[in-house]
Amino acid sequence: MNVLQDQQAPACTVHLNGSGGAIKGWVVVDSLVDGLAMGGTRMTTGVTEQEVAGLARDMTDKFTLAGLRIGGAKAGIVADGGDRERTFRTFGRTVKPLLHGGIHLGIDMGVTPSDRGVFFAEAGYDPRHRAGAKDLPFDWETYYNPLIDITGHGVGVAAVTALDAGGGTGPASVVIQGFGAVGRAVARFLEERGHVIVGVADVLGTISADRLPVADLTAITDEFGCIDRSRLPQDVTVTTEQDAWLGVDADILVLAAQKHALNAENADRLRAGLVVEGANIASCATAKEKVAASGAVLVPGVIANIGGAGSAALAVTRVVPFDLAAQARKAWVFDWISDCVRRNTRDLLEIAAAQAGDPLPELLAARRQVLR
Ligand SMILES: NC(=O)c1ccc[n+]([C@@H]2O[C@H](COP(=O)([O-])OP(=O)(O)OC[C@H]3O[C@@H](n4cnc5c(N)ncnc54)[C@H](O)[C@@H]3O)[C@@H](O)[C@H]2O)c1
Repeated sequence: MNVLQDQQAPACTVHLNGSGGAIKGWVVVDSLVDGLAMGGTRMTTGVTEQEVAGLARDMTDKFTLAGLRIGGAKAGIVADGGDRERTFRTFGRTVKPLLHGGIHLGIDMGVTPSDRGVFFAEAGYDPRHRAGAKDLPFDWETYYNPLIDITGHGVGVAAVTALDAGGGTGPASVVIQGFGAVGRAVARFLEERGHVIVGVADVLGTISADRLPVADLTAITDEFGCIDRSRLPQDVTVTTEQDAWLGVDADILVLAAQKHALNAENADRLRAGLVVEGANIASCATAKEKVAASGAVLVPGVIANIGGAGSAALAVTRVVPFDLAAQARKAWVFDWISDCVRRNTRDLLEIAAAQAGDPLPELLAARRQVLR
């Protein structure tokens, strides 16, 4: 089945009640391409069917923009993370037919690689094997673990591509909301290319300075992306004021934390001329309109943050040249993602320059034509 048309309703929504235990949640398969779809699994106390459906649609859009022949899906589990072993064993038993039927479910917010290991094992699912496809020559971790920085790398590529397109020459100043896996990788990428990080925010607040040393900050950041305030470098300003990252004077704002970080209430405070979404649904629709009306440029997450999902999809669809040695294989995947982000960012900005309104629907329509 191929349902890549501009569909309104998901291909299917599965309500999870549990098998051999209770669970509350959903798997939304937004689209199927060649019988395949994929997306992450989110576990929060507040996740809703509507949120899962929106994220699954984003996955469809990401893969369409990337030219990958796989549909978009997402899973959501309503839980607080207590008794995870039981939760993920129940989840694994419940989604077993989906996993074996071409719906690959990975990691998203609130779900760790070891949770994934639990539900894969309970379902007897190993992405190395799929009926009708070549076996992967090694396990999933061997492929995926070296790619930890790939989402941040792609977000960095989107930022420098948009800067170039805007005629930027000298070093740009950058504020990054979120200093987790994505935020740290973007910070490193941009600093390595001569740009200056002047602000970073985590869940505790915002840290700013004329120049923040990325390696030093990374060294005092824990696995959840929280920066240790007792070990900060000298001459930095620290505030706990809500959304203070919006007040930092910078050319680029990277959103790499929660959904709707930029929203109807705070978007008027935007100072940066370029916004790059590292997180999914990082800006709400009204905020996007306000950004456009202010004359600023926004590169959406479906273009900028394809790295993690795209590199997983490259493996699930067996596009990766698996015979390459580890380093060469990693470089191949990074190059593929960089090319994809660069091309989509350039094409989006070209459409934006030629017409009023959101350029994304036109770019998606063009990419759909190519995939048909
Ligand atoms: N990791 C990936 O490959 C990937 C891929 C695509 C999208 N995403 C999305 O990007 C976002 C970041 O992912 P990650 O893997 O870096 O997450 P993470 O959990 O490693 O880090 C999240 C960071 O955001 C900060 N944060 C949370 N709430 C905040 C708030 N209200 N204000 C300021 N900072 C806040 C946290 O303190 C932390 O620094 C998430 O929304 C994730 O779903 C991640």
